Amino acid sequence: MATKSRGQWASNIGFILAAAGSAVGLGNIWKFPGKVGAGGGGAFMLVYFCIVFIMGFTVMLAEFAVGRHTRQNAVGAYRSIDRRWGFVGILGVLAGFIVLSYYSVVGGWVMKYVWVYLTGGNLGGDAGAFYQQFVSNPVEPLIWHVAFLAITVLIVIQGVSHGIERVSKILMPGLFVLLIVLMVRSVTLPNAKAGLEFLLKPDFSTLTPEILLTALGQAFFSLSLGMGVMCTYGSYLNRRENLVKNTLTICCLDTLVAFISAFAIIPPVFAANGSVGQGGSFAFTALPGVFDAMPAGKLFGALFYVLLFFAALTSGISILEGTVAYAVEELHMGRKKAAVIAAALMVAIGSLYSLSQGALPLKGFWYTLKTGWSFPPLGQSLELLTDNLLIPLGSLCSCIVVGWIWGSKHAVSEIRSTENGSPLYRFSMAPLWSALIRYVAPAAIIAIFLIGFSGYISF
Ligand code: TRP
Repeated sequence: MATKSRGQWASNIGFILAAAGSAVGLGNIWKFPGKVGAGGGGAFMLVYFCIVFIMGFTVMLAEFAVGRHTRQNAVGAYRSIDRRWGFVGILGVLAGFIVLSYYSVVGGWVMKYVWVYLTGGNLGGDAGAFYQQFVSNPVEPLIWHVAFLAITVLIVIQGVSHGIERVSKILMPGLFVLLIVLMVRSVTLPNAKAGLEFLLKPDFSTLTPEILLTALGQAFFSLSLGMGVMCTYGSYLNRRENLVKNTLTICCLDTLVAFISAFAIIPPVFAANGSVGQGGSFAFTALPGVFDAMPAGKLFGALFYVLLFFAALTSGISILEGTVAYAVEELHMGRKKAAVIAAALMVAIGSLYSLSQGALPLKGFWYTLKTGWSFPPLGQSLELLTDNLLIPLGSLCSCIVVGWIWGSKHAVSEIRSTENGSPLYRFSMAPLWSALIRYVAPAAIIAIFLIGFSGYISF
């Protein structure tokens, strides 16, 4: 039996830290504050909050239930619910593969910044130019990329409870403390008032349908949904643990970290008279200038990038774990071999992503109804592929499989930890959750697709 040789979380707190470690990543600390900036501040945060606790909570609970019920990797899990739906797991593994290929490139950039700050190096006064020069170098970012992946592989090879759990137990609380220190420093800066007002006085006049949808996409990415990662983590979880409480805790932690990072990043950007929300490279281009303008800026800069590295690492581990669990259980590979082969392929894809940042004019392709075919840089089209297509599609499929194929009744019985017909937990929200997983969540995801592919509204 496959179940016998499978790892299990040594403790429930280990599981929570690992799952929260997966959720908290570059998405929270680097992407979220930028989206808050672009989306109008406090109003965006309120909308995001509602979406996490209505939609994100619903889908995450479904993924945990499938994983724990089937006790298998994502592919085996969906297949054992219905043969024809095994592709949902494959889709997830594929999405994870692509996400980690580029996620580890960005993780490598973070390592470079850690290195620069820790060695007392200089960003040359103009961080934007420094960043551009660095990512346009054909060789150096690749070295950092490989270094990031190598660390990820080493941890994953050690196995679930020994590797991931032990590392998460140390990294997550450390991350949390560092972020709070950073936030306290930020909100007490002399000119923090404008940023604080932006965050604390919601202005709903700036809310548009597209901002709502941006918030939805950001929430799913940030909660690590749609790729079978949470399904895989759930499969290592003890039957008697309370899934609802765990899901709620993870959603709370992830959102708390995102909000704290918004408070850590936005006030200093305002204080330095910077503009918020410069998109993807914001954390690399604008922030160093902000640190320079701070007392003890070098120290805070170093702390920030170390923290971002931890966050990226625990997320990277979770994605690789999804792939490795699949290769071990479905393709019968050794754990070590699976991790190394997966990483080697990721180096190949990641290198293309990295080179397309400036060293080589590599192009990908994308399609929207409004603009037809377009040929954005390869890096950008890889992100579009995962964020706008594979992750929402994976989440939609998991709603359908859980809500309709497996049936929310069976899922509810798993969530209640039913043994011999008697449930361990009440889960009194069950009817509400069933409606959300069957109707509300799928409808909202389909809306993202329509808007994303129409191209009339940009994310
Ligand atoms: N949630 C992580 C972040 O915010 C990234 C991540 C890890 C992820 N695992 C995932 C995203 C699975 C989607 C699916 O950075």
